[in-house]
Amino acid sequence: MTTHHEIPSYLTPHEIGPWGDYITQIERVTPYLGSLSRWVETLKRPKRILVVDVPIERDDGTIAHFEGYRVQHNTSRGPGKGGVRFHQNVTLSEVMALSAWMTIKTAAANVPYGGAKGGIRVDPKTLSQGELQRMTRRYTSEIGIIIGPNKDIPAPDVNTNEQVMAWMMDTYSMNEGSTATGVVTGKPISLGGSLGRREATGRGVFVVGEGAANRIGLDIKGAKIAVQGFGNVGGVAAKLFYEAGAKIVAVQDHAGTVFHSNGLDVIKLQAHIKETGSVAGFAGAEEKMSRENFWDVQCDIMIPAALEQQITEHNAHRIRAKIILEGANGPTTPKADDILDDKGVLVVPDVIANAGGVTVSYFEWVQDFSSYFWTEDEINLRLTRIMSEAFEAVCHVAEDKKVSLRTAAFLIGCTRVLQAREMRGLYP
Ligand SMILES: NC(=O)c1ccc[n+]([C@@H]2O[C@H](COP(=O)([O-])OP(=O)(O)OC[C@H]3O[C@@H](n4cnc5c(N)ncnc54)[C@H](O)[C@@H]3O)[C@@H](O)[C@H]2O)c1
Repeated sequence: MTTHHEIPSYLTPHEIGPWGDYITQIERVTPYLGSLSRWVETLKRPKRILVVDVPIERDDGTIAHFEGYRVQHNTSRGPGKGGVRFHQNVTLSEVMALSAWMTIKTAAANVPYGGAKGGIRVDPKTLSQGELQRMTRRYTSEIGIIIGPNKDIPAPDVNTNEQVMAWMMDTYSMNEGSTATGVVTGKPISLGGSLGRREATGRGVFVVGEGAANRIGLDIKGAKIAVQGFGNVGGVAAKLFYEAGAKIVAVQDHAGTVFHSNGLDVIKLQAHIKETGSVAGFAGAEEKMSRENFWDVQCDIMIPAALEQQITEHNAHRIRAKIILEGANGPTTPKADDILDDKGVLVVPDVIANAGGVTVSYFEWVQDFSSYFWTEDEINLRLTRIMSEAFEAVCHVAEDKKVSLRTAAFLIGCTRVLQAREMRGLYP
C-alpha cells in the first residue's frame, strides 16, 4: 500500500520549482537525524495551504483578479511566521518552499515559531496606491480565517513594506472588532512596530558575514563585495559592510547592474535608487555591466539578496567569491551548492544568514504583547548576540559532522522541529 506520494498532486514534477530544492535539502539532512528520521515526512508536506482569489476594482472601473496564497508549513514549535511577497512570478511551489525555509529558520535561530509564508501573484508597480491598498486589504480579509497573533503572523518580504503591514493590521483589526497589533510584524513604529526591524535582516546578514570572514581569515576592511538585490536586505547589508570599510564593487537589481573596481559610493547609490527606482544609470559606476557578467565579478563575498534559484549549475562555476552570504531565501540550488563546495567556496545558508529579520520580528511581537518597547541599542545587542551564537552553533555542528553549513543548519532546525513533533505526538 502506498502511504505517501513523493510530490503532492497539486505540484507537477516538471514544475516543482523551489519546493524541489527544499525537498533535496531535507533529503540531504535525513541520514543525520537518527531516530527522528521516522518523522521526516512531516517536513515534506505543508500543514495547511490556502489559495484565495483577490478581486479589486481598479481606478478605471474595471475588475481585476489576483491569485493569493498563505501556506502554513509547520506549527509544531509555535504559531506560523513568515513574510508576504507581492511579485508577478509568485507560485504555489515558491510560497510552499519559502514557508518551509521559515520552519527551518525559526528553529535554527531558536525563536518560538513555526514556518509560514504568503504572496500575491502581481507586479505591484502596475498598481496605484489606492489599488495596492484595496488588494492588500482584500487579501488580508481572505486569509483572515487562518492568521492571528497566536496563529500565524505575516511580515514584509519582496515588494511589501511597513505601509502594507499597517493596512494588514488595520484590516484584521477591523474584522476582529479590536486593535490587534501583534497580527503582523514589520509595522511602522507608530503602530507598535519595533525599532531596528527595518534594518534587522541586513544587520543579521552583516553579523553572520563578519563571523564567516573571521573563519577564513578575511579582513572585512578592504574586502570586495558583490550584491544582487538592493532592497531591504541587500541595501542595508551593503551599507553596513561599506561602513565597516568593505568595497561594494558590484550591485545588481531587477533593472540593471553597476560596477566599480574601487568600490561604489553606497550612499550616493541609495539616493539614486530613491530617485529613479533602480541602480540602472548610476553616474558613479565605472563601466556598464551586462546582467550575465555579474557572476564573473572578482570579489571576496557575494551576497545574493533578491530571489531564489539565482545561483545554479549554469553559473556557479563562474563565481570567484570566497564566501556566498545568502541574504535571499533559496538563492542557491542544490546542484550549485555541490559545485561551490568542490571549489571550496563557503556558503552561509539563508536559514541562518537572513534570520535577523524574524529574530527582530519576534522582539516586535513580544513588545506588542507586553506593550513595553525596548531601545534600539537593546534590540541590536540582542540581535547580534542571537545571530552570532546561532552561527557559531551551525559551524560547530558542520565541523563535528563534516557537513556543509547548510546541512548543519538544517540538522539543528529539523531536530528541534521533529523533537517538538515527537513530544507532542500525533493528534488524535
Ligand atoms: N525583508 C525581510 O525582512 C527578509 C527577511 C529574510 C529574507 N528575506 C529575503 O530577502 C530577499 C529580498 O527581500 P527584500 O525584503 O530585500 O525585498 P525588496 O523588495 O526590498 O528588494 C528586492 C530587491 O531585489 C531586486 N530584484 C528583484 N528581481 C531581481 C532580479 N531578477 N535580479 C536582480 N535583482 C532583482 C529588486 O530590484 C530589489 O532591489 C528575498 O529572497 C526575501 O525572501 C527578506
